[in-house]
Amino acid sequence: MWSRKTFLFLVSASWPARAYTWPSPFDALEDAYTVSSGFGSSGIVDEVTPCSQSPGSGSAPGRQNTAEWLRTAYHDMATYNSTTGLGGLDGSIGFETNRPENVGSAFNTTVSFFAPLQTAQTSFSDLLALGVILAIKNCAGPSVAFRPGRIDATEAGPPGVPQPQESLQTHIAEFARQGFNATEMIALVACGHTVGGVHEVDFPQSIQGAITPDNPDGVVHFDNIATQYINGSTVDQLVVGFNHTTNSDAAIFASDGNQTMLGFAQSNDDFLSRCGDLLGRMLNTVPASVELGDAIEPLPVKPYQLSLVFNATGGLQLTGNIRIFGTSAAAAATNPADMPVQLLWTDRHGETSPSYSTTATWGSFLEATSLFGSIQFFDINAFIDPSAGISSFVVDWAYDADGPLTKSDNGGGGFPFQDVVIFQRVNSCHGAVNENSTINAVVCICLRISSHTPELLRL
Ligand code: HEM
Ligand SMILES: *[C@@H]1O[C@H](CO)[C@@H](O)[C@H](O)[C@H]1NC(C)=O
Ligand SMILES: *[C@@H]1O[C@H](CO)[C@@H](O)[C@H](O)[C@H]1NC(C)=O
Ligand SMILES: *[C@@H]1O[C@H](CO)[C@@H](O)[C@H](O)[C@H]1NC(C)=O
Ligand SMILES: *[C@@H]1O[C@H](CO)[C@@H](O)[C@H](O)[C@H]1NC(C)=O
Ligand SMILES: *[C@@H]1O[C@H](CO)[C@@H](O)[C@H](O)[C@H]1NC(C)=O
Ligand SMILES: *[C@@H]1O[C@H](CO)[C@@H](O)[C@H](O)[C@H]1NC(C)=O
Ligand SMILES: *[C@@H]1O[C@H](CO)[C@@H](O)[C@H](O)[C@H]1NC(C)=O
Ligand SMILES: *[C@@H]1O[C@H](CO)[C@@H](O)[C@H](O)[C@H]1NC(C)=O
Repeated sequence: MWSRKTFLFLVSASWPARAYTWPSPFDALEDAYTVSSGFGSSGIVDEVTPCSQSPGSGSAPGRQNTAEWLRTAYHDMATYNSTTGLGGLDGSIGFETNRPENVGSAFNTTVSFFAPLQTAQTSFSDLLALGVILAIKNCAGPSVAFRPGRIDATEAGPPGVPQPQESLQTHIAEFARQGFNATEMIALVACGHTVGGVHEVDFPQSIQGAITPDNPDGVVHFDNIATQYINGSTVDQLVVGFNHTTNSDAAIFASDGNQTMLGFAQSNDDFLSRCGDLLGRMLNTVPASVELGDAIEPLPVKPYQLSLVFNATGGLQLTGNIRIFGTSAAAAATNPADMPVQLLWTDRHGETSPSYSTTATWGSFLEATSLFGSIQFFDINAFIDPSAGISSFVVDWAYDADGPLTKSDNGGGGFPFQDVVIFQRVNSCHGAVNENSTINAVVCICLRISSHTPELLRL
């Protein structure tokens, strides 16, 4: 397990130059990164809470989702060839689960969890990287910055995941191909072999006699990897296993005369910071043709599922949510029902008016949590004058009615919102969209030239 010590990651001091702003193709990933449970959550953090959570909502004792996701991400990336720039974290693992180098159900289980969360804009490999980062953080491990933009492979890549029976020289060569030198190999293996363990059902050549009714997979956990390794009390079955051929951790950890492991045993802070760095590099090892975006940081204020529709009486209605985020004590102590939250918009000519505003409301169904501080969602239900329209908005809010007002304008220009083409969800098909679907859209240009009656266009 990761140490209980809190690791202070020094990222807030250096925000990326091209900071993520709304709207972006990565909005759904920012949602998944920021909202852990409750309203608007992707369910990713729930799947690894508590840290020991096993697949099937806890119905698979001896297995641990966090460990399986981390191992899956490594095996996906481990076929990278740094000379050609091919492979890396690209989701190819989904085509490689039957390979001898990918022993166990961890890969199928992980792929089955993340694959349904994919969308046209959100790749499987981004979701896997995001999941690993959240899972490690949720297990009190190091913070790793999340950079989006991975592109999924459409077929299997070459094999090349290290296996425990291979020689030290082979392991060094495999890590060099992946872009990690021999010292980094020691550290990255130690970081990985901190959660989870070795399972007899998967590696009977390394473990015998561990299967019991309470431990149906025969897991033996890795535990406090560096301290126990150095003081001679390790239970890592890849160090002290009965089968010397498969004791790969023993050979790897001793390969620099124990210097790296000794350093980790002496300083848990050093261990965590090296792991944060190396796991970040592992997750950001992508095909050379892929360019990752800047790290996503939770937005302080963010619109969620905003939608503009013509209602039954022909009026324009803006619905959706505003998420407000904070790390301060005031944020944590606040009663969201008392928070004044106002949305003020500009019309399609960029003009403001006292009537262009609405009060957002809170309800207990909007409760949600984040690993990055406290968050609150508020409901928006605003009537927009169809002849004036809307082109952007800002949010004025405070933690309570007496508190200082924060004016959130999305970094300056307001939150852009277009009313030119409106997706009429209520008049359109429901369920899966296929070649027979009818999608209704309203193009507001018609609205301006021909009275105030919207024309439904069949696309
Ligand atoms: C020479 C390199 C490596 C070898 C030979 C190796 C081998 C193994 C083996 C045999 C297991 C037991 C799997 C099971 O029984 O379920 C295991 C587990 C694991 N490995 Fe590695 N590994 C290597 C490097 C890494 C790296 C670099 C990472 C990640 C940074 C990693 C992450 C994990 C995790 C998290 C588990 C626990 C899985 C679970 O409990 O379900 N491994 N590894
Ligand atoms: C990586 O690519 C280089 C260049 O094509 C090739 O020579 C090398 O054999 C590859 N390495 C592995 C392990 O496949
Ligand atoms: C993983 O899933 C594939 C496809 O459903 C299946 O063929 C394969 O046997 C599964 N492998 C394991 C190890 O469960
Ligand atoms: C690996 O790289 C690190 C960082 O550049 C360096 O400190 C270390 O000496 C290198 N190890 C080897 C074996 O080259
Ligand atoms: C030890 O591991 C090797 C490599 O997997 C395997 O061939 C051998 O059968 C194992 N030995 C025993 C006693 O299980
Ligand atoms: C070795 O280190 C572990 C973890 O810190 C500790 O629990 C254990 O008591 C130590 N054992 C010995 C023999 O010092
Ligand atoms: C490294 O540490 C291991 C485990 O404590 C020990 O068995 C081994 O002799 C050490 N090797 C060296 C080169 O110090
Ligand atoms: C439709 O929107 C208009 C204003 O845009 C509003 O006055 C009217 O009450 C709304 N009708 C319904 C059924 O919500
Ligand atoms: C679309 O409609 C055609 C003609 O009715 C039908 O043959 C086809 O199966 C439909 N496709 C789907 C995906 O429902």
